[in-house]
Order: sequence, then structure tokens, then C-alpha cells
Amino acid sequence: MRRPLIAGNWKMNMSVREAEDFIDAIKKAADTTSDEVLVCVPSIHLGLLSSKVFGSNLEIGAQTMHEEEKGAFTGEISADMLKDYGISHCIIGHSERRKFFNETDVTVNLKLKKALEKDISPVVCVGETLEEKEGGIAESVIKRQILGAFKDIPGKEAEIVAVAYEPVWAIGTGRTAEPEDAQKTIGYIRELLDDKYGKEISEKTRILYGGSVKSSNIKNIMKQKDIDGVLVGGASLDKDHFKKIIKYK
Ligand code: PGA
Repeated sequence: MRRPLIAGNWKMNMSVREAEDFIDAIKKAADTTSDEVLVCVPSIHLGLLSSKVFGSNLEIGAQTMHEEEKGAFTGEISADMLKDYGISHCIIGHSERRKFFNETDVTVNLKLKKALEKDISPVVCVGETLEEKEGGIAESVIKRQILGAFKDIPGKEAEIVAVAYEPVWAIGTGRTAEPEDAQKTIGYIRELLDDKYGKEISEKTRILYGGSVKSSNIKNIMKQKDIDGVLVGGASLDKDHFKKIIKYK
């Protein structure tokens, strides 16, 4: 059985006061579910917020990390720095990182390897743009991103990775993929993992959906057989809304 993962991604939002208030408000809701609950916050809030969730079912994750151990990479944070604060998860290769910060399948793969080496559970994002969808090449894009991300990663480590399928055209647009369409692509991702690693691993790997998830659509999304969780952007910024998302059952 794959344990569902309900993850928020604040992106570059939330003052320190808003962040503390949010975490205090949702801790209880997170403790009442058997699902894993994660909020990925701006790096500057990681230390403070991770100390606030100690002992609860709520986890704090990072939104990115650098692939190198340490060194002259101004502005970046390393996996060891995340570990220092007890950070257990990190989003890797979000489409905004690919678009605005030049991340590629190659750097995503390096980051994934570094996260795994340091015992940080990665949430690796893949997804096609609107242009790619309309051009009929969505599947080949997903295949390239998945095979690129998992290149040279052994099966035992691959099962620790959560994949988030986030069609770029559904991110922040209010236009969610139909749950059946999301299931189709996520089923395809599981097939790709199956071809590469075999059933034992592919059946253990969690695959999430992301892109305009809200309290009103999460139930139908989570009903799909291959969808093991959600990565929520905009709707994770409102504590009452995110509480409803956590309690979708
Ligand atoms: P959204 O963002 O929920 O605002 O569409 C999702 C994401 O970017 O992870």
C-alpha cells in the first residue's frame, strides 16, 4: 500500500508571521490524518518552521537544493544544510525552476542523486507545456523527463522518490486536468517505472498530481487508482483551504 502524500508548495510567498500562523493552524488537521502531510516553504523559513512541527505528522520540505556538496554557488542551499535542520523532503525540478532557473533533465538527475545520497526524500516534478500537449508530444516529453530524472538511479533508491505529474498548463491557471486524464498519464509514468525497475519498485513509488488542486476537486483526483497524492500551489497558501484539502476524505 502506498501512503498518500498531501503536499503544499508555497513558492515565494508568506512572511515569517504568516508562515508561523499557518503552521500552528494546520498542525492539528495534519495530526488527524494517516496520510503524510508536507509543506514546502521558502528556504529562509525552513529552520524556524521545522522546529515548530517537531513531533507532529506535519513535515516541512524545501522547494529546491543544489546538486553540489558545497562551494561557490552564491544564493544556493545544499543538501547538508537541509539535513542540519532535519528537513526530510525537497521538491526537485519544478516546472518554474526549469523555466526560470534553467534546470534541465541533467541537473534534475544530479539533484535527485544528491538528495538520495543525503537521505532527503525527493519530490521530482514532470509535466508537459500547453504547446507540447497541443503538439501531441506530451507522452514523449514525460518519457524524456522521467528517464532523464532516474538515469543511473538504482531501484532501491527510486522507490523513495515521489514523482509529481504537473502539466504546466494546469499550474496556477485554475484549469485542472480531468482526473481521468491525469490518471492516464500517471498510469503511463508507472509503466515507465515498471519497464525500468520492474513491478516491485513501480508499485511502491508514489506518483502525485499537481496543477490547480483545490478542496473541491481533490476527492475525484484521489479516487484514481494510480494517483497517490497531490502537490498544491495556490490553494496551499490559505490555511482554512489547505485544512480542507488535508481532510479531503
Ligand atoms: P497550483 O500550483 O496548485 O497553484 O496550480 C501547483 C504547483 O506548482 O506545484
